[in-house]
Amino acid sequence: MSSKDMKDTDIKDIDTENEDSKEIDAKDFKDVKERLAATRRFFINFSVSAFLLALCGWFLYPVIKFLIPPAQNSIDPNILSIPIAQIPCGKSMITKFRGHPVIIINKDGEFRCLSAVCTHLGCIVKWDSKNEELFCPCHMAKYDINGNVKSGPAPKPLFALKANAVNDQIIIEEA
Ligand code: FES
Repeated sequence: MSSKDMKDTDIKDIDTENEDSKEIDAKDFKDVKERLAATRRFFINFSVSAFLLALCGWFLYPVIKFLIPPAQNSIDPNILSIPIAQIPCGKSMITKFRGHPVIIINKDGEFRCLSAVCTHLGCIVKWDSKNEELFCPCHMAKYDINGNVKSGPAPKPLFALKANAVNDQIIIEEA
């Protein structure tokens, strides 16, 4: 074999190798592209599913809450009893009494129960144990522990309910 023939054969081999490697590269590139597309598809499907699930929850939660009646702590609907242990000294609890939000406050072992609905525009008031007063987070109306207006735009006091400690229960009744 002449040296020219040798060179031609070598060049052909190199060309064949290059074509093979191009094919392999193209195949690998196609695989990577497909995997990326699958990952992107999975991510989009997952995001859309999570969004739809959250949307369903957002719509269904009020419906389910409306359909399931709140748990009653006592058999008599005119009396609400709450275990004292649930409201430690200085703390408060917001619950419902005959469908109306009320706040029960434990001030040094004495219990108070007031309407928790601000008389201004109906926001739910909170107990500030440091200043021993109730405040409305909406427009900062303040009430004393008996429900009387101290400051802010509230036009009327919060109405009070009877709250007595009996054994290990706080009994709430209409005043
Ligand atoms: S709603 Fe309470 S201060 Fe306005």
